[in-house]
Amino acid sequence: MALFKSSTQAVPEVACVPRHIAMIMDGNGRWAKKRFLPRVAGHKQGVETLREMVKACDELGVEFLTLFAFSSENWRRPQEEVSFLMGLFLTVLEREVNKLDKKGIRLKLIGRRDRFAPEIVRMIEAAEARTAANTGLTLTIAADYGGRWDVLQATQALLRARPDFATGTVDEDALTPYLAMSYAPEPDLFVRTGGEARISNFLLWQLAYTELYFTDVFWPDFDRAQLQIAIDSYRQRERRFGRTSEQLKESAC
Ligand code: IPE
Ligand code: IPE
Ligand code: MG
Repeated sequence: MALFKSSTQAVPEVACVPRHIAMIMDGNGRWAKKRFLPRVAGHKQGVETLREMVKACDELGVEFLTLFAFSSENWRRPQEEVSFLMGLFLTVLEREVNKLDKKGIRLKLIGRRDRFAPEIVRMIEAAEARTAANTGLTLTIAADYGGRWDVLQATQALLRARPDFATGTVDEDALTPYLAMSYAPEPDLFVRTGGEARISNFLLWQLAYTELYFTDVFWPDFDRAQLQIAIDSYRQRERRFGRTSEQLKESAC
């Protein structure tokens, strides 16, 4: 059984503060270009925003923060940029895990692991194990993640566990426990910085009824005030999940 009911199976509870925020951290390269800096300077600066968002979400009482750090398509970038990002990933893991653990934050990584260097995989496993029992904010980093990969790997895992499903009917309740984020409710709010209005193969399944928010602000410039604007926009939304306005109770937000 899945831990959380799917939004297409039952109407979820809607809270004033989103329980789960998923973000595409985009615009690092353009932030740097505007300043006549190399693209990688934008990635470095982007880590500061990441830190700020973890702190802000933790303080606001958000339960799950999910950040897209590296997509399954980002391997197509120039080799020097990919190497820089891998190095940065390792440095940030080394430097931050201790601090996250002290704050009671549970760290999770979703995505393929077989294309990372063994030292990165070891570091990921150690970080997850160390923070597994923490009960504060759950911070998920999506790295070498793709939404289509997720649905396919879940299907394959289900069929390995339950070969009888190959000839039967697979329903949502059977599949969702195998999705990469089965430990979290579906995102309430999706934020993409950097001006593009697309999903770029992020959480395709899980975003079915998520409120989408796009901003032109580049990720390194995104801050608490910008996050508050995104949350305020979310609070204005009427989350109908297929129903009519008249069927909704007055929201108390
Ligand atoms: C997002 O910023 C970071 C990663 C994809 C790793 P970009 O590097 O995509 O920045 P832009 O979109 O080129 O400005
Ligand atoms: C999406 O950003 C992935 C991450 C932020 C990690 P991209 O910059 O790679 O997306 P596209 O290529 O513009 O769609
Ligand atoms: Mg981009």
